[in-house]
Amino acid sequence: MNIILIGFMGVGKGTVARAYAKEYDAFSIDTDDLIESSENRKIKDIFEEDGEEYFRKKEQKCAKWLSKSVKNSIISTGGGFFKTKSINKIGTIVLLDSSFDAIVNRIKSHPNAQRKFDKRPLFQKEKEAKKLYKQRIPLYKEMADIIINVEGKTPQEIAKEIKKKL
Ligand code: S3P
Repeated sequence: MNIILIGFMGVGKGTVARAYAKEYDAFSIDTDDLIESSENRKIKDIFEEDGEEYFRKKEQKCAKWLSKSVKNSIISTGGGFFKTKSINKIGTIVLLDSSFDAIVNRIKSHPNAQRKFDKRPLFQKEKEAKKLYKQRIPLYKEMADIIINVEGKTPQEIAKEIKKKL
């Protein structure tokens, strides 16, 4: 069975997936990385050149591939991947939950903070991102099998909590 990490942009899904993989000798996979490699271009360029709808179709294709071809892995996803059809066929859905302010602080405290914002087309304006956050939080919660509050915790602590709750 796979573990699928969902949650808002910048909450640390990729970092937690990698920490989990290292600790528990698993493989971690990231849906944005899969899409970037199959498209041979960055997410930002996909949005700019072909638009969000095109990107969402790629996410759907990725979800189908994961459900058919991947087992026993931890999968970090883009913040909108939770909307893909039959995501629950892929594995156990774990929401990494955090306040919006803590997410912004997390990104800002990164040495490459500007790049972290730049690569996310839907995080260009903080006000818009907050609006999206508010819309999505109840949907994430509805979707999740397990919810983990990640504020003030290290990736290793979060990985341990996921393992315990599974
Ligand atoms: C998106 C989140 C991004 C990426 C794309 C769209 C979203 O991934 O998939 O920019 O809709 O929330 P991260 O959650 O890793 O930032």
